[in-house]
Amino acid sequence: MTLAVEVAGLVKQYGRVRVLDGIDLEIPSGTVMGLLGPNGAGKTTTVRIVTTLLKPTAGSVRVAGFDVLGDPARARTRIGLSGQYAAVDANLSGFENLRMVARLYGMSHKQAAERATELLSALGLEYAAGRRAGTYSGGMARRLDLAGALVARPTVVVLDEPTTGLDPRGRLDMWRVIGDLVDDGTTVLLTTQYLEEADLLADRITVIDRGRVIARGSADELKTSIGGDRLTVTLAAGQDPQQAKSILAQVGIGEPSHEAGTDEVAIVVGEGSRTMVEALRRLDDAGVCVVDAVVHRPSLDDVFLSLTGAPAASEQASETDEEVAEEIMS
Ligand SMILES: Nc1ncnc2c1ncn2[C@@H]1O[C@H](COP(=O)(O)OP(=O)(O)OP(=O)(O)O)[C@@H](O)[C@H]1O
Ligand SMILES: [Mg+2]
Repeated sequence: MTLAVEVAGLVKQYGRVRVLDGIDLEIPSGTVMGLLGPNGAGKTTTVRIVTTLLKPTAGSVRVAGFDVLGDPARARTRIGLSGQYAAVDANLSGFENLRMVARLYGMSHKQAAERATELLSALGLEYAAGRRAGTYSGGMARRLDLAGALVARPTVVVLDEPTTGLDPRGRLDMWRVIGDLVDDGTTVLLTTQYLEEADLLADRITVIDRGRVIARGSADELKTSIGGDRLTVTLAAGQDPQQAKSILAQVGIGEPSHEAGTDEVAIVVGEGSRTMVEALRRLDDAGVCVVDAVVHRPSLDDVFLSLTGAPAASEQASETDEEVAEEIMS
């Protein structure tokens, strides 16, 4: 396994305030790392250091084999950054923006024009190629900004909140573009406030809070780490929740819970669907009448909440989000 990004012991201090306090990150080539954390956790600071824009107080960073701190110029040739706020020239057209970036990378007029055309098409912006970027929607501007980051064919692409502020359509378009990058073997470091985005795109997730790593693993591993699935049984009217609790206690982990005034009894279970069958059989044998039973797998939101004590600033995925998400993953 080659590592495209290796960050070790990263510290950033402003005066006496430590905003990064020993961050380690390893991203295997060709994979997507999701960097999650609440506002002010240190995501943008980390990303700026990895992309040579900011010097750390301590620590080491290697990108595509280059020492980012010792040889930032070489490292920069391998990195594409799309920042938290789209940086495009509003007075130039989409085409002109990209051609300018390509010229800055030293391409000839002809090469620059070709690369600009190629990227506009890859990002689905051909139809607006000749329009002033100032007239682009938020999602279009974000895609144009990302196109700018891809001009020099970087092996590592860093995206700081690529879909913040985008509507569901814009977000889906951006997810497709990121999926295409990954298919082409690009390594991606992505920060996001949207947990379903990390769940969908990231092979591995690093959760940071107040400048420290508080959890890492695949989305599945993180979900499992906060305790297995949750089985919730809804009792028919007039059934005794205490009796249901004592039966569920035999099949689940820990104490079942019953919220007063409801007909629902819940318990954490190891393997949700298999346990559900067993639980329903035992309840039936005891004559407890059940009207509904569901197994709920913890979401990344549950993980985030349990780790940071605060809900993520995440919107719920809409139906269409989920459908297209499935399409992208298949
Ligand atoms: N130049 C600076 N001087 C002092 N403090 C700074 C500076 N830049 C960032 N910080 C502080 O560092 C901390 C981390 O900021 P950072 O922008 O990395 O957070 P973030 O995780 O990207 O947050 P968000 O989700 O809001 O984008 C914050 O508390 C911020 O106030
Ligand atoms: Mg940020």
